[in-house]
Amino acid sequence: MADQRLVTTIAQARARRKQLDGAWGVVPTMGALHAGHLSLVERARAENDHLAVTIFVNPAQFAAGGDLDKYPRTLERDLALLEPYAVDLVFAPANAEIYPPDFQTYVNVEKIAQPLEGAMRPGHFRGVATVVAKLFNILQPDRAYFGQKDAQQVAVIQQMTRDLNLPVEIVVGATQREPDGLALSSRNVYLAPAERQAAPILYRALCAARDAFQRGERDGANLRAAMRATLQTEPRAEVEYVSAADPRTLAELDALQDEVLLSMAVRIGATRLIDNFLLRE
Ligand code: PAF
Repeated sequence: MADQRLVTTIAQARARRKQLDGAWGVVPTMGALHAGHLSLVERARAENDHLAVTIFVNPAQFAAGGDLDKYPRTLERDLALLEPYAVDLVFAPANAEIYPPDFQTYVNVEKIAQPLEGAMRPGHFRGVATVVAKLFNILQPDRAYFGQKDAQQVAVIQQMTRDLNLPVEIVVGATQREPDGLALSSRNVYLAPAERQAAPILYRALCAARDAFQRGERDGANLRAAMRATLQTEPRAEVEYVSAADPRTLAELDALQDEVLLSMAVRIGATRLIDNFLLRE
């Protein structure tokens, strides 16, 4: 598709950014756009004068032998989905544009990147933080939009932004869900029909812990047990972790205070799904 807004080089992206004065919002994505991304795009469109969407399947955040090669790449479809939002700039670089052969500088966020996803996916957040810092430097947005579904990613990016004094506001959009509760994710396309039927067990497990919290349960161990008990009712669900953690530090909580981040990673067949609820009293 010949598209004036689509640019693939850093020089073109910078030139386009410079042409338009006013507040810029950016929605960083790896493509395979779904309604979750589009809700961020819609919000960014409403809150800024100009809007950039990045589409880049970032190899640095995938483990060797992970799903990098089979990750869905649907640029034509993504551009069509973005059409109604009058995006000012779609930046879809090739790998070598972002990681030239002599590339050797990475951003390593420390403590908050270590538990949960960080423990299960070593190097993942180093890749995320590096590419997001590069995208911020290239596009110089005033605001950047991320989904709450990747709660730890949001925490890592917020930490990096504070630590490196990056002049960008991080805006977090609510998780978008299918009618049966399954959180929207580009990886949902991997689910075979029977797995797709099993996948809302994550949502139901989160609901069970949320209901217990709302009934006054304040013991973190009991909330983790409630999530596990629900997940165990689904034979296809293989639990990697369940967590009831302090949303500021991601440290596991025993005695809960005013807020808790419930989160989990669960394999349904070969597909790894994550989900979370952020609960506040
Ligand atoms: O959430 C994602 O899609 C990616 O991790 C991000 C933020 C675009 C960085 O590659």
